[in-house]
Amino acid sequence: MNLDLFAPEDFAPANVQLGAQAVVLRGLALPYVDAILAELKAIFAAAPLRHMVTPGGFRMSVALTNCGSLGWTTDLSGYRYTQLDPQTGLPWPALPASFVRLAQQAAETAGFPDFLPDACLINRYLPGARMSLHQDKNERDFSAPIVSVSLGIPATFLFGGDQRGDRAQRVPLQHGDVAVWGGQDRLRYHGVSELKDATHPLLGAMRINLTFRRAG
Ligand code: SIN
Ligand code: FE2
Repeated sequence: MNLDLFAPEDFAPANVQLGAQAVVLRGLALPYVDAILAELKAIFAAAPLRHMVTPGGFRMSVALTNCGSLGWTTDLSGYRYTQLDPQTGLPWPALPASFVRLAQQAAETAGFPDFLPDACLINRYLPGARMSLHQDKNERDFSAPIVSVSLGIPATFLFGGDQRGDRAQRVPLQHGDVAVWGGQDRLRYHGVSELKDATHPLLGAMRINLTFRRAG
């Protein structure tokens, strides 16, 4: 058999264009995984993952924390960005340089040069966790894109339209994939369906999502 006939790219999942200015970049984060996991250890020690409550009183199934000069939080009084972690009273851990490089490489690849994130929301999903359709709209201006990195067990990403009721595309996200949406797609509704039971060699039965934003 002539193996030259089978180039690796025949098997690698292709990037997915989700919209005019929205794309899933397959495996773009893979070279950063070791660095990310080492940084996460320190971040989780300083700013532990916790389940927050939505303004409507629901306990989120996803546990979260942040790094960066601003961190996204929610409680009964609303969604907002804060400079201090409300649980520790301390500033959120700094954005590691490797995180910024990854976010900038992804943004540039997707057509958004000059992305300068100041916030990284870190979401932890265990099997059974989900995130319902929402818009990312607590940021001060919407000219910067959202860069969203998937690690660990697979998930189904839901990418809807500009209205909550619009039909959502369902896109499988694997370890190392990065979704980027901005420009005319910046306010598209999106979410994650309930995670199925699975085990990842590096992360176990867990999915980690890093969402980079320009919030301030
Ligand atoms: C989010 O929208 O905050 C998370 C998306 C994801 O987990 O992929
Ligand atoms: Fe989001």
